[in-house]
Amino acid sequence: MEGYSLDRYIADCSDLVRAGGDHQEAAADAAMLLWRLLNTEGTILRPEHLRSDPKHFSHNEVYISSERSFALHALVWAPGQWTEIHNHGDWGVSGILFGALEEQRYRLEGDGDEAKLVKHGLNIMSEGSVACFGPDDDIIHRLGVPEEREPVVAISLTGIRGQGHYVYDPATGHKQFRPGSLFDT
Ligand SMILES: [Fe+2]
Repeated sequence: MEGYSLDRYIADCSDLVRAGGDHQEAAADAAMLLWRLLNTEGTILRPEHLRSDPKHFSHNEVYISSERSFALHALVWAPGQWTEIHNHGDWGVSGILFGALEEQRYRLEGDGDEAKLVKHGLNIMSEGSVACFGPDDDIIHRLGVPEEREPVVAISLTGIRGQGHYVYDPATGHKQFRPGSLFDT
């Protein structure tokens, strides 16, 4: 597929977000555009977007809109690296540029001291595939790559509405609120 680029993707997503409307629909439209970008011939990201860290998974800023309404990051996982277990307070889109990304899903059972995280499914996203989520989707998951696999690079677009999100302790199920997005560190 030809004729699409990172700059055009950013411009199209800027138009989408500026138009306002339903976040679930915006996420779906941004996902279709991201699929087009990922399946475009040629280089999409620059070398500085592909930096990795031996200690933890990396998120490299690609673009933040001037109105701070959405952000685009390149996510890089070395083998054995994972995100924290988290949910989403906002809408977003992810697509795989290189490798196969594993998504381990969880369900929170019980509440307070009785809360317990239970594994609840697994998805593997391959190169060129995309997925989106809305602000009200009940997703708790972690994303990463087992030791024996190849590194993964993903492109992630997230809305910025300032809703914050939760991260979860895998042993106790206790959740901790984090203001801002997953990549505000
Ligand atoms: Fe996530």
